[in-house]
Amino acid sequence: MSYLIVNGPNLNRLGLREPETYGTWTLQDLEEGLRLYAIPLGMELKFYQSNSEGDLIDRIHHAPEEGIRGIVLNAGAYTHYSIALRDAISSVPVPVIEVHISNVHAREEFRHGSVLAAVCAGQISGFGPDSYRLALEAFRGMHHE
Ligand code: DQA
Repeated sequence: MSYLIVNGPNLNRLGLREPETYGTWTLQDLEEGLRLYAIPLGMELKFYQSNSEGDLIDRIHHAPEEGIRGIVLNAGAYTHYSIALRDAISSVPVPVIEVHISNVHAREEFRHGSVLAAVCAGQISGFGPDSYRLALEAFRGMHHE
């Protein structure tokens, strides 16, 4: 079964970007760690990162025709204000889990709100790279794999 891991704006800067908040591991480290984690679970992962709202929307739109069973989405700052991304999530029958590396609720007030959470299956925030792994576990439970 295929799952798609989508990372939004500035997440290509992991490792360089505010390491005290986001860690010292890179996006490539994250993706490779997830890929290895998913193998024994029988989950095939696809990865996508973009800094552009429209490209993220297009990638979500294409998920159903590829047989993707679930999307793990870290939409970065778009989480807090992109109604367009929210509508993209609502437009596909594929469940989406919102994830964040940092605990957004313990940070600036403008990060506390998510316009995506209500149309997602759930939200996982604050566990570093484990936020993504926990989302895969949630999909496993959901799909009884
Ligand atoms: C983030 C939290 C967002 O508020 C921020 O804009 C990001 C990363 C996280 O993973 O903790 O870019 O989504």
